[in-house]
Amino acid sequence: MLAEKPYLIGREKPLSKREISQALRWAIEAELDAISFYEQLAELVEDERIKHIFYDVANEEKEHVGEFFAALLEVDEELGKYMKEGFDEVEEETGIKVEL
Ligand SMILES: [Fe+2]
Repeated sequence: MLAEKPYLIGREKPLSKREISQALRWAIEAELDAISFYEQLAELVEDERIKHIFYDVANEEKEHVGEFFAALLEVDEELGKYMKEGFDEVEEETGIKVEL
C-alpha cells in the first residue's frame, strides 16, 4: 500500500494534521480489507484449526480498526460530531441503537 503512495516515504517534515487524518483513514481501509481477506480465507478452509487461525487474526484486525479509529477521532475533531449525528439519524429512522 505504501508503495502506491510514495510521497509518504522519506518526508523532510512531519505530517500535517490533515495528512495524519488521511493516513489513519488509509490504515483503517487496509485493516478492513484485511478482515475481509482473512474471513474469506477462513470460509474456504475446511481444517477447523486453520479456520480458527484465520478468524482469530481477522478479530485482531478488528482491534486494529478500533486503535486507528480512536486516533482518527482524536485528530479529526469534526468526525465524532458527524458520526454521532449519523448514529442518531439511524436510531430515529430504524430504531437501531449503536453503542461502542
Ligand atoms: Fe492489522
